Amino acid sequence: MAAKILAVTNQKGGVGKTTTTVNLGASLAAAKQKVLLVDLDPQGNATMGSGIDKGGLAKTVYHLLLRERTLEEVRMASPAARYDLIPANRELAGAEVELVDLPNREVRLKEALEKVSADYDYILIDCPPALNLLTVNGLCAADAVMIPMQCEYYALEGLSDLIKTIKRVRSKLNPSLEIEGLLRTMFDPRNMLAQQVSDQLQQHFGDKVYRTVIPRNVRLAEAPSFGLPALVHDRNSKGASAYLTLAGEILNRHHEENVR
Ligand SMILES: Nc1ncnc2c1ncn2[C@@H]1O[C@H](COP(=O)(O)OP(=O)(O)OP(=O)(O)O)[C@@H](O)[C@H]1O
Ligand SMILES: [Mg+2]
Repeated sequence: MAAKILAVTNQKGGVGKTTTTVNLGASLAAAKQKVLLVDLDPQGNATMGSGIDKGGLAKTVYHLLLRERTLEEVRMASPAARYDLIPANRELAGAEVELVDLPNREVRLKEALEKVSADYDYILIDCPPALNLLTVNGLCAADAVMIPMQCEYYALEGLSDLIKTIKRVRSKLNPSLEIEGLLRTMFDPRNMLAQQVSDQLQQHFGDKVYRTVIPRNVRLAEAPSFGLPALVHDRNSKGASAYLTLAGEILNRHHEENVR
């Protein structure tokens, strides 16, 4: 069976995309799922957070997108978690420009992943904070989009641009692209505004909002500086346990979909 491919996307910066990709990846792997992470951000944060030094890499997702390397050549095992990783570093920023005049520029990641999709249960793509060609590659390769968001005043406004982009990709490039879910991140239940935005989110998106909420938790913030997912850094932290719960919610959802 082919992997379920999720693009973790929000063009707003710092909302928890990378934290979600790394910690959900580690949690799914801990639940015996075969997981591949794709770092599609020139910042390389998911690469570093998986315990791989982005600086010294000769083969990255950049070379995969330009078809200079095969997926087998760029794939690595994360030393920190039980998943595989396609790493990224600053070189990827050049791909934006270099891909523009090349054929099939939007579907290069999709084509590359098709060859290994059967090897995995889940492929998670960490997108950059922009609605650019890299993100479009992520959206074309994916079955569904996971949208992490902070429950702040401008959060809903940004969401409408993202949903427009998803609809555009759906109509032109990837008709079966779904919204998998919206994830409330860095949540502080004592914050009134966060509660209000959370309520609005549920009114608009109903079941698409994950029941699991990710709390603000210092272990989640500090784990990347050790090159570790929170699950490995401090298994008993609130952050690690929230992502384990999220993995359970996602596995249940997909199990129900498959049974139906
Ligand atoms: N639940 C959380 N609790 C505390 N800190 C968090 C939490 N989630 C993320 N952070 C911290 O917030 C910052 C932004 O998170 P992260 O890098 O995951 O966001 P991002 O959306 O990937 O950012 P970018 O848009 O730059 O790629 C990081 O310093 C991260 O450690
Ligand atoms: Mg990020």
